[in-house]
Amino acid sequence: NGLRVFDPAFLNTAAISSKITFIDGDRGFLMHRGYPIEQLASKSDFLETAYLLIYGVLPDKKQDDTWRYEIMHHTALAEDVMKVISSMRYDSHPMSVFITAIAAMGAFAPEANPALQGRDLYTANADVMNKNIIRILGKAGTVAAASMRVRMNRPFIPPRSDYSYCENLLYMMDSHSEAEGYKPDQRLVKALDILFILHADHEMNCSTATMTHVGSSLVDPYSAIAAAAAALYGPLHGGANEAVIRMIERIGSVEAVPEFLEKVKRKEELLFGFGHRVYRNTDPRSKIIREVAEMVFEACGREPLIEVATALRDAALKDEFFVKRRLYPNVDFWSGLIYKAMGFPLDFFPILFAVPRVAGWLAHWKQLLDHGNGKIWRPRQIYVGEGLRDYVPIEKRE
Ligand code: CMC
Repeated sequence: NGLRVFDPAFLNTAAISSKITFIDGDRGFLMHRGYPIEQLASKSDFLETAYLLIYGVLPDKKQDDTWRYEIMHHTALAEDVMKVISSMRYDSHPMSVFITAIAAMGAFAPEANPALQGRDLYTANADVMNKNIIRILGKAGTVAAASMRVRMNRPFIPPRSDYSYCENLLYMMDSHSEAEGYKPDQRLVKALDILFILHADHEMNCSTATMTHVGSSLVDPYSAIAAAAAALYGPLHGGANEAVIRMIERIGSVEAVPEFLEKVKRKEELLFGFGHRVYRNTDPRSKIIREVAEMVFEACGREPLIEVATALRDAALKDEFFVKRRLYPNVDFWSGLIYKAMGFPLDFFPILFAVPRVAGWLAHWKQLLDHGNGKIWRPRQIYVGEGLRDYVPIEKRE
């Protein structure tokens, strides 16, 4: 029962064996269920990739039709969840709204709670698991859109089940959708869909580890997703896409780049959008994302901050500090510029990471329940506090 490994921040610990995603950080290689990310980004779409992640195979035609139909017919939010969302302040961060609303969905779904229904609720009944996977994935986009509409102080736009996942998401958020017959720009639908494929899963990142950790307690999946979303909210993880743009805006000009990099080297600033725990060479997603940026700029006009971003990247890649530490642009370095060009408010960016990552969280949750060892996750610690001492009454304390 002794402590075997001391590994702060899990730098070297593998806590699960997994068949979902493989990353080779030295080669800059990523694949899901054996398919390289480049092929999925160019040939698949978000809902198909989500199916692949969760069920392990590409769907056949019948499975594909059923999957899309079911997801797009589980996009409506219950009135009670809408009330929770509308009760939030207009200036609440959309991620806070997202986390709250997903947790609220659990509150309104007691039939999904193993504490009430029995510990084998999901393992004994694949239909219950699938139903909840479909509900969560279907409604995640609607929660995101509703959080945007609250922020805009505009009425909520109900989902369109005849649209694709990303088309419907853009439709529900776009201010133009209040006009009769409006359809989002198909180039932006395609761009968002590729971004969603790129963000769908990334093995044991902070939020997926949270999902698995929390899920190991057998809590309901809504609560576990809310916890995973909270982990993703942080600026070192999914909040980085927002932090990158705030950083580039602060830098302000190409001329100011060298001075900013000096501050990073003095450890007074972080270069958001750079570095990765696993990739030590290149992040394959950031290469694809750079191409998506051009697609979006063609449709929406060139985002002026791209010049500062490019100068920042070029200067950092040549600088000894970053070269020595093997720090490269990650997926968040470019995604924020794309979302900004598309007209999303800055604080909405992390949600555009969270919604597709729901697919990965659910895939890992299902894998844990179906194939895990049934043990609660419970790391050990090394105690470095006080030795044994006697309690001192308050009047005798110095
Ligand atoms: N800017 C400046 N210095 C950095 C950065 C950075 N972005 N990233 C790492 N370093 C330094 C770090 O301070 C350390 O320096 P030293 O050796 O002098 O102590 C060295 O590089 C090695 O750091 P590390 O061990 O690679 O860092 P990590 O694996 O603990 O953290 C990270 C990974 C992504 C949290 C970190 O690189 C970071 O904070 N990046 C900025 C935030 C960001 O872009 N996050 C998005 C990550 S990709 C999408 C996602 O998964 O969410």
